[in-house]
Amino acid sequence: MPWTDLKPRQFPAFSKELRGISKSTMDNHYKLYEGYAKKSNECRKILRDFDYNEIEGNQVYSPLRSVSVDYTFALLGFKNHELYFGHLGGDGGDPTGAIADYIAQELGSVDMWKAAFRKAASSARGWVMLGFDLNDGSLFNYIMDTQNLWAVYNMVPVLALDVYEHAYVGDFGATPDGRKQYVEAFFDNLDWNHVNRQLAQAQAAKKGADESGASEG
Ligand SMILES: [Fe+2]
Repeated sequence: MPWTDLKPRQFPAFSKELRGISKSTMDNHYKLYEGYAKKSNECRKILRDFDYNEIEGNQVYSPLRSVSVDYTFALLGFKNHELYFGHLGGDGGDPTGAIADYIAQELGSVDMWKAAFRKAASSARGWVMLGFDLNDGSLFNYIMDTQNLWAVYNMVPVLALDVYEHAYVGDFGATPDGRKQYVEAFFDNLDWNHVNRQLAQAQAAKKGADESGASEG
């Protein structure tokens, strides 16, 4: 499928009043997301237009290396925020639907998972993901130190929490406690239906791969 430029989209969370997360934080955050779309498109175009017969390949420094690395930062910045903004605007509370059962089955109980997710949120420098593994169907918490570091391939994030300071400093302050309060606010605004849709998509992708006969193992 040919590349088409990424376009920032609208999310229901921006027309609602969120609990604890201010409109100004959300609006400023949206500008970052717009920037990631713009830079993804820019990097992609540069990578497409390089003359690969002429360009230098160098692992210390080369334009190809720099743009390739920064492209993953920009693209995952876009993708991560698509998920994050999509999650917000809900009623919060405990997980509902299929994700609730899956969490209990894979991670012991909802309470155990939440405790682990909260600690992961204090341990990550960028993101925490609850991810579904397309290879074995497992559900696990992953931390990411930047937009593009430490996620493993074939892990599909079904729940993405931004713990970069820009997500909470304005509302809760730049302290570990401020981050903890923000994580609770995130849970208070979480739309579990949106999380369930991500899970359903990931499960459908795995099922499709399994049924195609192309999966190994
Ligand atoms: Fe962010």
